[in-house]
Amino acid sequence: MLKSAYIVALALFSLNGTAAEPIVISFSHVVADDTPKGQGALLFKKLVEQRLGGQVKVEIHANSSLYGDADELQALLDDKVQMLAPSLAKFSDYTKQLQVFDLPFLFDDLDAVNRFQKRPKGKQLLTSMEKRNITGLAYWHNGMKQLSATRALHAPVDARGLSFRIQASPVLESQFESLGAKAVKIPFAQTLDAMRNGQVQGTENTWSNLLSQNYASVQPYMVESNHGVLDYMLVANSTFWYSIPHSVRTELEGIIDEVTYSVNNAADTQNREARQQLASDAKVHLISLSNEERNAWRQAMRPVWQQYENEIGKDIIEAAQTVNRRR
Ligand code: LMR
Repeated sequence: MLKSAYIVALALFSLNGTAAEPIVISFSHVVADDTPKGQGALLFKKLVEQRLGGQVKVEIHANSSLYGDADELQALLDDKVQMLAPSLAKFSDYTKQLQVFDLPFLFDDLDAVNRFQKRPKGKQLLTSMEKRNITGLAYWHNGMKQLSATRALHAPVDARGLSFRIQASPVLESQFESLGAKAVKIPFAQTLDAMRNGQVQGTENTWSNLLSQNYASVQPYMVESNHGVLDYMLVANSTFWYSIPHSVRTELEGIIDEVTYSVNNAADTQNREARQQLASDAKVHLISLSNEERNAWRQAMRPVWQQYENEIGKDIIEAAQTVNRRR
C-alpha cells in the first residue's frame, strides 16, 4: 500500500517537486472531421487519452484551422506541432522517393497501394525523411482520385485548356500538362474559393474530399477515373518523437497501429458512401469511363513515369508495379 502510494506520487511529481506536465501532441491537419484522416485523428486522441491520460495530451486542429498546406511541415520542424498526416503528394521538398505515389495509373486500386505499403520497399519509404528530422509512423489511406470539372470530361482532349487545382506536387503538375491542361498549386483550404472565382475549372481528389468540400457546387461534372491515389503519411518531428520516454512511446506506437488498422479498413467504405451521396445528388453529373476511355487517359498520362524515373528511383517504381493483380 505504502509502496504503491510512493509510485503514484513519483508519477505525479517530477524530481524537483513540481507536478509533472503531460506531453502535449499538437496534431494539425487540413481536412474535415468526417473523412478518413479526420476520423483517424479523433480516434488517436481518444485512445491516447484513455490509455495515457495524464501523461500525454492530444490536441487536434482540423480544417487548416492552425496550419495549412503552405506552412504545416515547417511548423512540424519548428516543433510548433508534433504530428501531421499530409498527403504523400506534399513531401516533395523533403524526399523525391515518395513521388512514386503520385504517378498516374501506377496502382490499379487501393488494395494494390496497401500491398506496396506493406512490402519492404514501401516500408523503407517511411524512413526516407529521417535526415530532415521527419519520422514516418504509418501510412493512412484516403482513396483513389477522381476528376471534377465545370464541363464533361470523357476523353483527355476534353481537359485541354482547362486549369486544374493540384496539390503542391511536380508529378501532378506534369500529369495535367501531359493533357494540354494547366496545373495550379493551391492549398487545400483555398481550393473552393479558387473554383468559385474561376481561377480553376477542374481538380482531382477522392470522393470523400470532393463531397466534404462541396466541390460539386461549382464543378458538377465528376469522372470516375481512379487514375491515382491520395494517401497520407502520419509523421512526427523526429527530435520530439525520440525524446518521449521509451515506455510511453511504445504505448503510442501500439495505439498508432490500432488507429491505422481502423482508418485503413474504413477508408474504402467512407469513399464508397461519399460516391453514393454524390451520385444521388441531382446536380452532379457522374461520368463512368469504359475500359477503352480509361485506357486513353492512361496513355495520355503515362509519359510522366519516364519523366520522374531517375528522381524517384527505377527500383521503387518497379517494386510498385509488382503489386497489381494481373487480370
Ligand atoms: C488535398 O490537398 O487535396 C489533400 O491532400 C487534402 C487531404 O489532406 O486530404
